[in-house]
Amino acid sequence: MDIFTVLGLETSCDETAASVVRGAPPGPGEILSNIVFSQTEVHAPYGGVVPEIASRAHLEILDGVVEQALADAKTTLAEIDAIAATAGPGLIGGVMVGLTTAKALALGAGKPLIAVNHLAGHALTARLTDGVEFPFLLLLISGGHCQLLGVEGPDKFRLYGATQDDAAGEAFDKAAKLLGLPYPGGPNVEKAAQHGNQKRYPLPRPLLGRPLSEKNGMEFSFSGLKTALRQLVRNGAVEVNDAAASFQKAVIDILCDRTANALARFRHDFPDLETPVLVVAGGVAANVAIGSALTVVAESHDFDIRIPPAKFCTDNAAMIAWAGLERFATGASDPIDFSPRARWPLEAPP
Ligand code: KG4
Ligand code: ZN
Repeated sequence: MDIFTVLGLETSCDETAASVVRGAPPGPGEILSNIVFSQTEVHAPYGGVVPEIASRAHLEILDGVVEQALADAKTTLAEIDAIAATAGPGLIGGVMVGLTTAKALALGAGKPLIAVNHLAGHALTARLTDGVEFPFLLLLISGGHCQLLGVEGPDKFRLYGATQDDAAGEAFDKAAKLLGLPYPGGPNVEKAAQHGNQKRYPLPRPLLGRPLSEKNGMEFSFSGLKTALRQLVRNGAVEVNDAAASFQKAVIDILCDRTANALARFRHDFPDLETPVLVVAGGVAANVAIGSALTVVAESHDFDIRIPPAKFCTDNAAMIAWAGLERFATGASDPIDFSPRARWPLEAPP
């Protein structure tokens, strides 16, 4: 079987990242280098990512990050088979910086360009790290997305359900702000929750218990939870750790309830799989309490569960290099005038 080496670039949010990955589908792949420069400190004073500042920061450091990734991998552009970059969805200024850089490298070195959907990067990470075979059920929980998908191929996704309002990570980030916890919100809410009483404050769990049917049962909603938390804070002194724990428990209950329905649906759609696999991906998958709760749900439905290591759940370029490698292995590459996309749903054709 052919083994490929791919350079990947990621610039769709506030991480400037480059990585070299080697391998072949279904994985696992070898991560030869993985450089992630987080802009957290640059954005922290604003309490969130400022798109214009992010694009400029990407522009300033991306060249150096790419050089470092090649050096760490002890390789050169000449030895790379293809150059992959996130082409969307994300903050368009940042996406343009990464994609344009990849195009320049591809043209200069005479290598094929692969335009990668950032969400496909998250979705296929468990193949890079664990060699998970298609098809698998994916719970994608990140700062911009919250959805359940059947993943059947590097370009083949079946959407089971998505959020009707906020993404899971967005809910964490907003909760952190309401509770006065520092940016970035998710990890700080998790930390606070470890010292709190999750039963202290009763918070709503929107859509909980909705049965599985054609149209619903696998959708998410977090806005009611956020509103309830805001109300709680407004009503007077809240104990921050207890509020963080109560909030996190509500998110866990929502994720577990919706995922349980999707497990049933996936088994119905793929009855021949002996032990189907649930993969959890995206930044929120780094949350240990969420991972443990989902493990219980998966096991009670006789599913295996795979959660990539935290550093591959949050944004990184190894996942982009790998998603590019998977497409390259099918013979795909993209035209040099491929346009960056602010919006790019996974179930749309590439
Ligand atoms: O996948 P990601 O790095 O970027 C996007 O593509 O959105 O996800 C970032 C999101 C942020 O909302 C962040 O607060 C959340 O993931 N996150 C967490 C944790 N670590 C990151 N949420 C809860 N618990 C965590 N430990
Ligand atoms: Zn992401």
